[in-house]
Amino acid sequence: MRILSGIQPSGKLHLGNYFGMMRPAIRLQERGQAFIFIANYHALTTSSDGSMLREYTHDVALDFLACGLDPERSVFFRQSDVPEVTELTWLLSTVTPMGLLERCHAYKDKVARGITASHALFAYPVLMAADILAYQSNLVPVGRDQKQHVEVTRDLAIKFNNLFGEVFTIPEPEIQHEVAVVPGVDGQKMSKSYDNHVELFGNEKEARKRIMRIVTDSTPMEEPKDPEKCNVFALYRLFADETQRQEMIDRYQAGGYGYGQAKKALFELMHETLAPLRARREELAADPGYVESVLKAGAEKARAEAAETLQAARRAMGLE
Ligand code: ADP
Ligand code: TRP
Repeated sequence: MRILSGIQPSGKLHLGNYFGMMRPAIRLQERGQAFIFIANYHALTTSSDGSMLREYTHDVALDFLACGLDPERSVFFRQSDVPEVTELTWLLSTVTPMGLLERCHAYKDKVARGITASHALFAYPVLMAADILAYQSNLVPVGRDQKQHVEVTRDLAIKFNNLFGEVFTIPEPEIQHEVAVVPGVDGQKMSKSYDNHVELFGNEKEARKRIMRIVTDSTPMEEPKDPEKCNVFALYRLFADETQRQEMIDRYQAGGYGYGQAKKALFELMHETLAPLRARREELAADPGYVESVLKAGAEKARAEAAETLQAARRAMGLE
């Protein structure tokens, strides 16, 4: 089974990215061959600073490797090292109805937030479809916000196969229900665009400050509390094992346990969980050539696959 996932290098990664996408993608390494890439072509739809893009790309690669992506087992690469996907995007655009793209939430949300819509932003799901289809992926683990894009991909693949013959594998999205949406410190979806995020490997003082600011209700300290309605618990449970989770539920329900204490417990558990990953990240960062060599080796393998799919699509469409 081929598993594929991509992430945009559009900033420092946060807990929403980690639990919603990175950790599930890394865990999927156990189930099949994972292709994981850094979607820098996609990031161009919202970035116009070359040196920042280069830096974020490097940082995201380090984050993934530190969090357990194993480059021996998985194919890890930079999207732009496989330019075949841009040609495949063009081929797929010819079977993409305008209406399908006009209905995409991600595009509509960005326009609503005041981002000027370029053609690339509008056509972004077609590039994403090319990413997925180029590697004949079976399974695409994504956060809930990306599910619609995988559905667009399925529609395009089915349509293409009907018109030109069986070229593409039809992929399935896989949403991690337990962590479908990681809340930010204000209780909305965690996102760097809302500035309600907690960075994965950011400054720990800043992380503590943000955690202490998590919005809670005004239930007095001595009263029992409902963990299911609490943003602090929603983050705590992501880090906790079964026992820790149950103990926290008991504390909430017993009363006499304040939100301030819960926030401290969350910060400590987060620190404890991430400390070894942070150390590993520093180790990897000390060897400046390492990340580049991993990405280059990954690109070589990815490119061979993408070239084969592209050729099949070109033949089917009458270009060769
Ligand atoms: P942001 O909203 O901070 O810009 P992105 O949209 O770049 O984050 O998301 C990158 C990946 O991380 C996507 O796969 C997305 O589904 C996942 N992700 C981002 N934020 C969350 C969240 N709050 N909960 C779950 N998954 C998330
Ligand atoms: N659009 C995704 C995001 O913003 C990133 C992405 C690009 C992707 N191509 C992909 C994710 C292919 C999964 C599969 O998060």
